[in-house]
Amino acid sequence: MKLFLTGGTGFVGSYFTRRFLEEGHEVTVLTRSARKGGEKGETKVSWVEGDPTEPGHWQESLSGHDAAINLAGSTIFTPWTSKARKVIEDSRILTTRHLVEALKGDSSPATLLSGSAVGYYGGRLDDTVLTEDTPPGDDFLAQLGVKWEKEALRAEDWGVRVAICRLGIVLGRDGGALSKMLPAFRKYMGSHLGSGKQWFPWIHMEDLFRIFLFLLENPHLKGPFNCTAPNPLTNRDFAGVLARALGTSVLMPGVPAVMIRMALGDFGEVILKGQRALPQRLLEEGFVFQFPHAEEALADLLK
Ligand SMILES: NC(=O)c1ccc[n+]([C@@H]2O[C@H](COP(=O)([O-])OP(=O)(O)OC[C@H]3O[C@@H](n4cnc5c(N)ncnc54)[C@H](OP(=O)(O)O)[C@@H]3O)[C@@H](O)[C@H]2O)c1
Repeated sequence: MKLFLTGGTGFVGSYFTRRFLEEGHEVTVLTRSARKGGEKGETKVSWVEGDPTEPGHWQESLSGHDAAINLAGSTIFTPWTSKARKVIEDSRILTTRHLVEALKGDSSPATLLSGSAVGYYGGRLDDTVLTEDTPPGDDFLAQLGVKWEKEALRAEDWGVRVAICRLGIVLGRDGGALSKMLPAFRKYMGSHLGSGKQWFPWIHMEDLFRIFLFLLENPHLKGPFNCTAPNPLTNRDFAGVLARALGTSVLMPGVPAVMIRMALGDFGEVILKGQRALPQRLLEEGFVFQFPHAEEALADLLK
């Protein structure tokens, strides 16, 4: 297949790019800086330079591809000033809007796999199981998710198959949440955050990649999919599993919520709350997880 990726230079996108190439697919990556991609050494990739938050010539490059994969979005791991909130929103909503507009052409991709996040369900402290049928929350990330998904689903009006991928917390090497946790846990300084009762909806990067392949290869699949492992853990339990995987242990008390709020402001709420999201639709469709439990996932990632 010929695949067109936004966000193909990021933590998730660069893993996907490498794996799609290994699986024999052709990959085009849209980036605001082709140099950035080139520096990562992906010489087999076709680079298209353009800013997806604005319409432009890059939209013509979608022609001739079988599917578009939408993973662009600026980091949310930053103090949420009003300026930062606008960048977080524009890098998802405008990017998706312009990508979707570019799918109108006759020879443009007939399939769109568009990123979203389990933040769609809102930050929660309860044990409610969240499936694709659960209504959205009402905090900033939840409302962002609603708008982001709505933009992507507009492509259905011109006959495109749209699958919405509500990503959990992606565990991979060299980046993402795990790389932020490892230094403290390696020094016996890691612990749970706040109450530790919030759910941690993790997913191994390779399973996430295999979910995207599964969605590409099964043309009857559309609509929202929770892209999380089938066995989420609470933040406290995940801290224990991570420490054991590293051969250390959790010696410290939990990091007090007040400290997290002081250091991170509104963004702190994102890590003090969580989602007990389950990949119900993927399981119903017969997707088999290679890493269903955090113990196996971490053993693989840390080896
Ligand atoms: N990682 C996770 O655990 C996780 C969890 C839930 C959801 N997600 C979602 O999955 C997507 C990919 O995540 P990631 O961790 O791979 O993110 P990442 O490493 O921060 O990469 C994001 C990509 O978005 C592009 N980008 C960044 N700022 C932008 C801006 N202001 N305007 C337009 N494009 C911009 C970058 O492309 P260029 O710089 O090349 O243009 C980059 O390749 C994001 O939308 C994220 O919200 C990730």
